[in-house]
Amino acid sequence: MSIAIQIAYLISSILFVLGIKMLNKTKSARQGNRLSALGMFIAILATLVQIQVISFVEIFACIVVGAAIGLYYANKVEMTKMPEMVALFNGFGGLASFSVALSDYFLRTNVNLESIELVTVISIIVSVFIGGVTFTGSIIAFLKLNGNISGSPITFKGQHPLNLALFLSFLTAATFTVIDQTDPVLIIVLIVISLVLGVLTVIPIGGADMPVVISLLNSYSGMAACATGFILNNNVLIVAGSLVGASGIILTQIMCKAMNRSLVNVLLGGFGQTVSSAGEDGPSITVKEIGVEETAMLFDSVSSVIVVPGYGMAVAQAQHVIRELMEQCEKRNIDFKFAIHPVAGRMPGHMNVLLAEANISYDKLIEMESINDEFPNTDLVLIVGANDVVNPAARNNPQSPIYGMPILNADKARTVIVSKRSMGKGYAGVENELFGYPNCLMLLGMPNKPLQK
Ligand code: TAP
Repeated sequence: MSIAIQIAYLISSILFVLGIKMLNKTKSARQGNRLSALGMFIAILATLVQIQVISFVEIFACIVVGAAIGLYYANKVEMTKMPEMVALFNGFGGLASFSVALSDYFLRTNVNLESIELVTVISIIVSVFIGGVTFTGSIIAFLKLNGNISGSPITFKGQHPLNLALFLSFLTAATFTVIDQTDPVLIIVLIVISLVLGVLTVIPIGGADMPVVISLLNSYSGMAACATGFILNNNVLIVAGSLVGASGIILTQIMCKAMNRSLVNVLLGGFGQTVSSAGEDGPSITVKEIGVEETAMLFDSVSSVIVVPGYGMAVAQAQHVIRELMEQCEKRNIDFKFAIHPVAGRMPGHMNVLLAEANISYDKLIEMESINDEFPNTDLVLIVGANDVVNPAARNNPQSPIYGMPILNADKARTVIVSKRSMGKGYAGVENELFGYPNCLMLLGMPNKPLQK
């Protein structure tokens, strides 16, 4: 392989690493995305120059069609539908690795009639397995989030032993494939098991846990690409695949930690089934309500406000009303900030994206670790559609399912107003003891409506 191609691959890899690093900060994230896209462009160009046997016309036709479809959907998709879109991306990534591995296998065994090196045959098996699981698993995740199939956990007796039996059968068929590379029945067994396992491992997981699963499937799609890189002997695919694999697993870990759940607990499924919808299950704590006029009067007497956004704000699309409120407060020299919990909402960065969409500048959004000490010196905290992420039971009640989950210390502010539709519970399905605290007032109604007045 020519030195120039390898240097191009090296530049691409450096751009990928720098791009991912820049995604760390909201301010530099867009720039990081562009840098990584440039890296991918260089990698594609270098690969096209290197592989001269295939038709450029066909490749460019595919790029144009793919780019047109991608552009159309990227412009059309709503922010709240982003997890569905990422699920599809992961699925197609897995399918690509799966297809390349299989075509390489059939090319070598049926057309070139060559014996495949051990490292290549193992890479083919790994790529088929992870690619297949990622493809069907991501499609199920998409269908669940999109409401095409039930978002509730789908379980049946003997599900886990069946999954284990299928995995062991895969390992057996894989071992025989290494011994006899030319048996087509074995490769068909590998294909079928990996596709079925993708479905069976994702159906027991509830819709609200899908963001964690999507992040894990994203990591799988990277690992599948990495294995395909070994098959094709392509260094940039190995680097890009490992980066996606590692960053996906780190994000999964961060999300699990922020929810105080283990990955095994998420993958076994069933969490959050007790979530009640609005109006169900009245509270067993006594709460004090506040009206819109009194809320407005309270705003007249404060000098610092922290808004805690949550899932309810996203569904009610209340971010625009909050921006108007922020503008009003800033005209009166009230210090106005947003406290961002790492898993507020239903996907990583959910709140940052929504608030940015409403033109709220990044420097107003303060991460949990940085803002938690500010709550005791804050006059008013306005919680908009958030629940679990401000529940003091996570600190105080060892019996609570969310005990140990890091939370925003909103309860420590002088006054707390909670704007939500009803006394409905959050994702974890537990009552929020904050709502009964003496400094807490409930502003009930659709989060975007009362605030508008
Ligand atoms: P939640 O605790 O889920 O509470 C959101 C509140 O929004 C509910 O109490 C509900 O109150 C209100 N709401 C629900 N549906 C609504 C609708 N259709 N329209 C308007 N309001 C609605 O939210 P949070 O505080 O943001 O916490 C997030 C939770 O999700 C955490 O438990 C977290 O672990 C979990 N989770 C997050 C992620 C990521 S990556 N963000 C991933 C998986 C799980 P009313 O019914 O009274 O309005």
